[in-house]
Amino acid sequence: MAQNNRIVIFDTTLRDGEQTPGVNLNLPEKLEIARHLESLGVDVIEAGFPASSPGDFEAVRAVSQNVSCSVAALCRCIPDDIQKGWEAVKYSKKPRIHVFLATSDIHMKYKLRMEPEEVLHRAVEGVILAKSLCDDVEFSCEDASRSKPEFLYQVLEAVIDAGATTVNIPDTVGYATPTEFGALIQSIFAKVPNISKAMVSVHCHNDLGMAVANTLSAIENGARQIETTINGLGERAGNCSMEEVVMALTVRSGIYGIGHGIDTPKLYRTSQRVSKFTGVSVAINKAIVGANAFAHASGIHQHGVLANPITYEIMTPQSVGKTDSTLVLGKLSGRHAFSDKLSAMGYSLSKEEIVDAFARFKLLADRKKTITDKDLEVLITQKVAEVPPFYRLEAFQIQSGNKMQAMASVTLVHNDKKYTQAATGDGPIDAAYNATSRIIGGEWPLAAYDIKAVTEGVDALGEVIVRVTQDGSSYTGRGLSTDIIEASILAYVNAINRAIAQRERVRG
Ligand code: KIV
Ligand code: ZN
Repeated sequence: MAQNNRIVIFDTTLRDGEQTPGVNLNLPEKLEIARHLESLGVDVIEAGFPASSPGDFEAVRAVSQNVSCSVAALCRCIPDDIQKGWEAVKYSKKPRIHVFLATSDIHMKYKLRMEPEEVLHRAVEGVILAKSLCDDVEFSCEDASRSKPEFLYQVLEAVIDAGATTVNIPDTVGYATPTEFGALIQSIFAKVPNISKAMVSVHCHNDLGMAVANTLSAIENGARQIETTINGLGERAGNCSMEEVVMALTVRSGIYGIGHGIDTPKLYRTSQRVSKFTGVSVAINKAIVGANAFAHASGIHQHGVLANPITYEIMTPQSVGKTDSTLVLGKLSGRHAFSDKLSAMGYSLSKEEIVDAFARFKLLADRKKTITDKDLEVLITQKVAEVPPFYRLEAFQIQSGNKMQAMASVTLVHNDKKYTQAATGDGPIDAAYNATSRIIGGEWPLAAYDIKAVTEGVDALGEVIVRVTQDGSSYTGRGLSTDIIEASILAYVNAINRAIAQRERVRG
């Protein structure tokens, strides 16, 4: 296959990204992220690992049925995995089966306990089976960057002969350096005789903070598919961040001379959405999408930017979709202004969704004088992130002070009945959580609690993100309110609802 001048963006936010410790996305969230990725212009969405759980299977199937770009399912080189992968992805307009097997001595010896001959044989068998089901087959040599190059070339040649249309070279543990990784990609073109029949892809992890640099080096050496995630999510230190690598290709197009299909003004919104759904905040100094990416603090810089932004900005905030948050709506705004504003911000909601969002907007406008773009963004995102409300917060009351033990009374609605409990605690939030778990029953230990203002001003919306653990899994919950105790209870109840939803799914 000719390695042309357009990069194929293979996004694995929903698969490797979901492997980020503590991240657990539900089906509506995965679908919503997939729709954002599609609208962003991603070429291939890796929607999950269907054999890993019934939930993943359902998610891959749902994504396949709902987007028109290519959808990939990850599978080990095991017949049952490949069959399940195909069952999940076959509804896609452009299905892809992605099989992987490790090729490094370390993985073959300690993890697979297989001799290289067996790995070679299984890799070929896996690709043959996948090819019998699906035209588009990707093969990944896991831990490729630590594999013996000669063995890597041998496996690549064999899987291409067996029908692989894309061969992926992962730097699974983020160990490679840019020069070394670029040389490896170059050597693959030189040493694998049938390499022109396949697309060469790379998948870089960020353990040494070099995932983007390694990916760019691979591109310079001929790779034409790159595997990325939004916000660089992924196992351990994460994967190559899509927004960073895409903006590097865009801003430095003179160096790379390679096109891509990403609609870059949608990057910021997608990043925000993924951050909300995963509960993983974007670092303020993160390149491209961090809060400070276009902030200029020193007087000299501010002066320069006012004189001409190119003094200190190598790209415009608009080019990545970071527009200034303007004061837009208030209590008296009508539904038309509201829905026009949402369209201008790029949302296309159904009539019912607008009615619903407008009702929540009015509630917020009662508590907050001016509603900004950011408030609206949060309001819309919050709704999408909801799970079945097995328990819903009805009311709470808190008594707290520096010379008394905090006490909380919480009322939740469950199956249309109200339940109230009171409890004391080490501070108002602890007391409210104790009262909440008394109503629900069982232990709901808190693994993480994070609070931040998501909009500006004294009446800012506060967002609380919590993680509770249950049966060895962790569930992220979010709560949003102008009142931080209310946001805290909402987040806790949301996390518990997620855990219950998961339990029901497993039972069902
Ligand atoms: O990091 C890795 O090697 C992977 C493969 C499954 C592609 O995620
Ligand atoms: Zn990976």
